[in-house]
Amino acid sequence: MHHFHYRDNHMFCEDVPLLKIVENVGTPSYVYSHATLRHHFLTFQKAFEGVPHLICFSAKSNSNLAVLKLFAGLGSGLDIVSGGELFRGLQAGIPPERIVYSGVGKREDEIEYALQSGVLMFSIESFQELELINHCAGRLKKKAPIALRVNPDVDPKTHPYISTGLKEHKFGLDTKSVVEAYKSAAAFSHVEVIGVSYHIGSQVTEVAPFVDALHHVKELITTLESLGISISYLDLGGGLGITYDRESPPHPNEYGRAILEALGDSPCTLILEPGRVIVGNAGILVTRVLYTKRGETKDFVIVDAAMNDLVRPSLYKAYHAIEPVVRNEKDTIRADVVGPICESADFLAKDREIPHVEAGDLLAVMSAGAYGFTMSSNYNSRPRAPEVMVNQDQFYVVRERESYEDLIKGESIPPFL
Ligand code: LLP
Repeated sequence: MHHFHYRDNHMFCEDVPLLKIVENVGTPSYVYSHATLRHHFLTFQKAFEGVPHLICFSAKSNSNLAVLKLFAGLGSGLDIVSGGELFRGLQAGIPPERIVYSGVGKREDEIEYALQSGVLMFSIESFQELELINHCAGRLKKKAPIALRVNPDVDPKTHPYISTGLKEHKFGLDTKSVVEAYKSAAAFSHVEVIGVSYHIGSQVTEVAPFVDALHHVKELITTLESLGISISYLDLGGGLGITYDRESPPHPNEYGRAILEALGDSPCTLILEPGRVIVGNAGILVTRVLYTKRGETKDFVIVDAAMNDLVRPSLYKAYHAIEPVVRNEKDTIRADVVGPICESADFLAKDREIPHVEAGDLLAVMSAGAYGFTMSSNYNSRPRAPEVMVNQDQFYVVRERESYEDLIKGESIPPFL
């Protein structure tokens, strides 16, 4: 479900024609629908009503301040993995006591920043991190609230790069080591064990892997309780998939029902870290066709957005639907939709049937709200695209297009040159 639709063959976001946005901000540009973001958040939240829970939106999927501010206003917390994401969350008004901090490689300065800020919980992913956090908290005369991240060894059946809960992955601690780590944690003076956390992967399109993982983790909680370690927060991570193409992932209600059924009558407060399911289909990337070209074996549509703007197709061969901003009656063509970057991997779609387009036409790359802008870069010295949020018949530039000056900000030429 989203609020991008056609009126008289023109694509609108809510009540704003995309042509109007492009006239103002140019291309490429990200456009988000406030109504879709809000609807997705509230739908997800509703799926867990009735049990104590906290939704910690996953900042890595979309960390624009306006997006975070919107969720803060709906009661969201934040799942962060860096000092930078903590800074963004605090700037957007997310209360620190609703922030959970995961990640395999937290630096000491980042740990201190989070301790000083008073985050709800750290998800610890190794023994050494546990020792470091105990040390930092002692130095700051604080007690660090922690969960240990367990790797439940469940196959989420998603792209290998975005599955995280198998033995071979770098994330969390295996089910045996985690018990040992909990025992050590319980003995440390500057940490307070409050939770268990895990995350099996992303773009998961079935409920079974989520349920399997939860069963494993419930066993762990029972073991911990028998050791006198009590758990108040159960952090399930994120991972619920969306429809990019023909996938039919469970609706958040179905996901919620399956989780609550598997959970039984646990007294724990649930923490959920959804990212993609909230923002994925709430955003698009608008791009302009620069040229079309007939190759010997295939046709190319060369557009002004590239892998630096949206890397998912290049990195994961991810599918993003491509729709015309203005529909025409002409035949479709089959082509590779490629960007201006000097890499063969710079494509938004391969061998795709798309509407017949000509230089100057606009295309919308759909489902680009998650891991779109946040994974963008300045490769080839391309200024990053602006982000626009639409609310009914108004639109706001929530991040300006970068300038050439922005590109060299902080660089300097040493005097010996
Ligand atoms: N919690 C943890 C600990 C995570 O590692 C992630 C995602 C999430 C929550 C949110 O997962 P979501 O609900 O969005 O699936 N760049 C990739 C996705 C990487 C996901 C990494 N972790 C992509 O573009 O598909």
